[in-house]
Amino acid sequence: MNDDYVIVVDKVTKVYQSERGPVHALDRFSMKVKEGDFVAIVGPSGCGKTTLLWGLTGLHPFTSGKAYILGEEVGKPKREVGIIFQQANLLPWRTLIQNIYFPLEIMKENVDNYSERIEDLIESVELTGFEEHYPRELSGGMQQRASIVRALSYDPKILLMDEPFGALDAYTRDEMDTLILKIWKKTKKTIAFVTHRIEEAVYLANRVYVMTPRPGTNSAVFDIDLPRPRPEGITMERKFFEIVAEIKRTIVRDVEKQKKEGKYQSQAYSTIT
Ligand SMILES: Nc1ncnc2c1ncn2[C@@H]1O[C@H](COP(=O)(O)OP(=O)(O)OP(=O)(O)O)[C@@H](O)[C@H]1O
Ligand SMILES: [Mg+2]
Repeated sequence: MNDDYVIVVDKVTKVYQSERGPVHALDRFSMKVKEGDFVAIVGPSGCGKTTLLWGLTGLHPFTSGKAYILGEEVGKPKREVGIIFQQANLLPWRTLIQNIYFPLEIMKENVDNYSERIEDLIESVELTGFEEHYPRELSGGMQQRASIVRALSYDPKILLMDEPFGALDAYTRDEMDTLILKIWKKTKKTIAFVTHRIEEAVYLANRVYVMTPRPGTNSAVFDIDLPRPRPEGITMERKFFEIVAEIKRTIVRDVEKQKKEGKYQSQAYSTIT
């Protein structure tokens, strides 16, 4: 195994056993992520993106294949890995700050050792002054920003993000994209980011992995040759559109191919927006 890579996914397959029979979700998907990379994983709904991230957390093991994080085979959940999901999943009976402390409490860490770091993070996501608010008193975007702080509180090296801004309105989503790039630049995390929004993937990532429709396997990899930091207005530029269009064409081609072969099992075509 190559030490340059902090995430190595080597031909992972996942077959769920459900009451309605086996569901072949992932098929020999492979990926390599270098330290400090921002990788996006895109593909039609149901192609196995969430399955891949769950597999990497160690919570839902793959059926076959291997995955390594920081050189170690994925087994039980690791503290070097932070996870951010589509829903902020804040506990309603805890205040914002109590929610942020929650994983530290679970890990039996002394919260005081982290308070300064957390204060800085809260400031960087512009939540200062809201520490004592309950989730119901916060907007969706604020809750998601709190979940980012919670994931970063114990300083994981790697962030796995599963459509983290999917439930937010378009404006807030753009703001969150800008925020996550700021955090990435400042903290130098390695990020694997799942989304079905191709524009978001191209804006954020330096590499985009495209998955085929279910069972998700490697379709294509795009290295995104756009300047960093992303200049203002880059999403309106021709080059940006061309990359987005090429990725969309790839996905449409994969769907058409499966349909022609009578293998297509997903209703996800329309979600490629
Ligand atoms: N626990 C489970 N039991 C049975 N089948 C499952 C389970 N979890 C997921 N699946 C199936 O596995 C396939 C992949 O699901 P997954 O959630 O990984 O897709 P996804 O790419 O994240 O989709 P989306 O873009 O809609 O979030 C789907 O067909 C789904 O129905
Ligand atoms: Mg998903």
